[in-house]
Amino acid sequence: MTRVLITGITGFAGSHLADYLLKKDDLKIYGIKRWRSRTENIEHFMDKVEFYECDLRDASSIRDVIEELKPAMIFHLAAQSFVPTSWSAPAESLETNIIGELNLFEAVRRTGVDSLIQIAGSSEEYGAVREDEVPIKETNPLRPLSPYGVSKVGQDMLAYQYFKSYGMKVIRTRGFNHTGPRRPNVFVCSDFAKQVVDIEKGVKEPIIKVGNLEAVRDFTDVRDMVRGYWLALSTGTPGEVYNISSGVGWRIGDILSTLISLANVSVDVVIDKHKLRPSDVPRLIGDSTKFRSATGWQPEISFEKTLEDILNFWRKGY
Ligand code: GDD
Repeated sequence: MTRVLITGITGFAGSHLADYLLKKDDLKIYGIKRWRSRTENIEHFMDKVEFYECDLRDASSIRDVIEELKPAMIFHLAAQSFVPTSWSAPAESLETNIIGELNLFEAVRRTGVDSLIQIAGSSEEYGAVREDEVPIKETNPLRPLSPYGVSKVGQDMLAYQYFKSYGMKVIRTRGFNHTGPRRPNVFVCSDFAKQVVDIEKGVKEPIIKVGNLEAVRDFTDVRDMVRGYWLALSTGTPGEVYNISSGVGWRIGDILSTLISLANVSVDVVIDKHKLRPSDVPRLIGDSTKFRSATGWQPEISFEKTLEDILNFWRKGY
């Protein structure tokens, strides 16, 4: 059995990745979690995955896990992933994301295990993209517009450096926005969907609070995204970096209109100034030709279906 370690398994993408990998017969899945991690995303596979108590910000903690497990594959998804938090807690975001990854790499290097490692980068790394640079290729300059974006550039560059300096078998993915059931409602699609569902249920006045509706983002269903992560690590080339994206840009305001029409509610939309960011990346649309050619990946779930699934997730009362 191939030993596969997922960091961030209690989170949104990590738990979907575990769901996907658990369907494969020849893999044994392991996850790390902090003692205070929430467990609602992992309850349904608790008995199928082996968990280690570990905090990536503590070098000795991850070193013990890697020494014992010697995983053949590592999906590194643990991160502070919400852009606004990176303004209110920039130091913590940089530490969790960059130092957490450093501790993982050092544990692998010092243990001498030859793991294949996926680093989940982000389209936020591209940041201020010019009109003539869209759709964005991997070769585009990185001009991050948030501490979160900087932390992901740091992770990306650290991975590149460990590949070059030590031959560590790292594959970097730059995932564009991804969403679906289990996405916490601080992120835009879940935030709007939860508000729409609360209005539908009559537990909230018919007012939806929003931030910047003019931003454009490229969305992939999380279930397609994690299949991409698997393909990246199982068929991609170490040292390479791959965009994973649908290639379609959605104006955030149009996502809101679609959710409202799917639920058939009548609402007022109000801008909440607390939801506006010091700087917001205006337009992110990815070119994933390199990844599709290397792995055969393409998205299978339409964005409309994803939005319906998110509404149904909140309707179940989460
Ligand atoms: N969260 C939120 N809530 N965002 C809003 C709202 C709102 O009420 N109204 C407008 N927006 C806009 C944000 O300003 C941003 O332009 C866009 O909707 C998407 O916001 P998020 O869902 O918070 O995602 P993100 O694009 O900032 O970051 C996500 O995608 C990255 C990949 O590009 C996160 O998942 C990151 O972890 C990920 O790396």
